[in-house]
Amino acid sequence: MQSKTHISVKDLSIWYNGQQALNNITIDIPDKKITAIIGPSGCGKTTLLKSFNRLIELREGIKIQGEVLVDGENIYGPDVEVMDLRKKMGYLSQRPQVLPMSIYENIVYGPRLFGIKNKKELDIIVEKYLKEAHLWDEVKNRLHNSASGLSIGQQQRLCLARGLAVEPEAILGDEPTSALDPISSNRIEEQFLELKNRYTIVLVTHSLSQAKRIADHVVFLYLGNLVEHGPADVIFKNPKYMKTQSYINGKVIEEPDIDKTLDLKGTVLSGNFVKIKLALEELEAGKVLKIIIDDNPEKSGILNFIEFDGHKVLEIKRLNTKDWEVIARKQERDYFV
Ligand SMILES: Nc1ncnc2c1ncn2[C@@H]1O[C@H](COP(=O)(O)OP(=O)(O)OP(=O)(O)O)[C@@H](O)[C@H]1O
Ligand SMILES: [Mg+2]
Repeated sequence: MQSKTHISVKDLSIWYNGQQALNNITIDIPDKKITAIIGPSGCGKTTLLKSFNRLIELREGIKIQGEVLVDGENIYGPDVEVMDLRKKMGYLSQRPQVLPMSIYENIVYGPRLFGIKNKKELDIIVEKYLKEAHLWDEVKNRLHNSASGLSIGQQQRLCLARGLAVEPEAILGDEPTSALDPISSNRIEEQFLELKNRYTIVLVTHSLSQAKRIADHVVFLYLGNLVEHGPADVIFKNPKYMKTQSYINGKVIEEPDIDKTLDLKGTVLSGNFVKIKLALEELEAGKVLKIIIDDNPEKSGILNFIEFDGHKVLEIKRLNTKDWEVIARKQERDYFV
């Protein structure tokens, strides 16, 4: 069953000081599921995650194009209150960032900011969210001790409890378990599995085994481009494109060697089918054709057309807001004989 969309990213591009970090990303993040963002270092995972609660815009030299819709509203629109947005979209960084105060004060910081002053109410909040983050038993006798005295794994769970205490809609985690030992890491994973009943969870992870264990949906980025995204079992068991296959099998990601390029920008869609067919016919089996078109290859039917003819599509790539690249390998066509 198709799940509801919570966060919808449309044609999102981000530049740092003129260097493009994300290129026209369009994806839907499902509601109340765990989405894992995977890809090699530097490919834009953190940038994408931070764009979901506007943590990206704090610095000079950053340019953002496109839209991120949360519950249907563009969070880059002029009327958006960033505080409200951050409350909705809890963020967990790679290293736990506890506030320099007690365990108790860490949890009540957010709720106080949002107007809760009553001591009894705050006590209830502290217990509830520490329990939810599976930290209560370990800290209930030292709630007024400094949070920095906790182990790193405990600090990460405290950060989770602090995030949950403002009742967000989504939890964004940037490699939230990478600094933890396997036991603490498992605990956090188990919590995410419980929490996804109530929250949308988006996790950046370098651990493919973690993504396989807990993700429902996977987004694979490479060099700022969206290569492939979809249900986790499809991405892990039957990925469509060459780069995804290499990455999930732990192989070096290579650019395909192109034998011929067909530039169809500005031409009429119906004529493109014939031109692509002819170009593939002229090519030897096993050779690779790059096609540049100004239509979405999935929506225009070009991808199906190439594959229906028995050829393998190795990759599709967004070049800019308009143009796409399709890279296809000509297959042996012995089934025609
Ligand atoms: N604040 C910044 N200023 C300038 N460039 C940046 C900044 N943040 C990220 N970048 C660049 O943008 C690109 C994407 O970075 P990002 O941190 O999103 O990658 P990542 O996939 O999270 O990598 P990693 O797995 O190493 O955390 C990289 O080339 C990075 O150097
Ligand atoms: Mg990162």
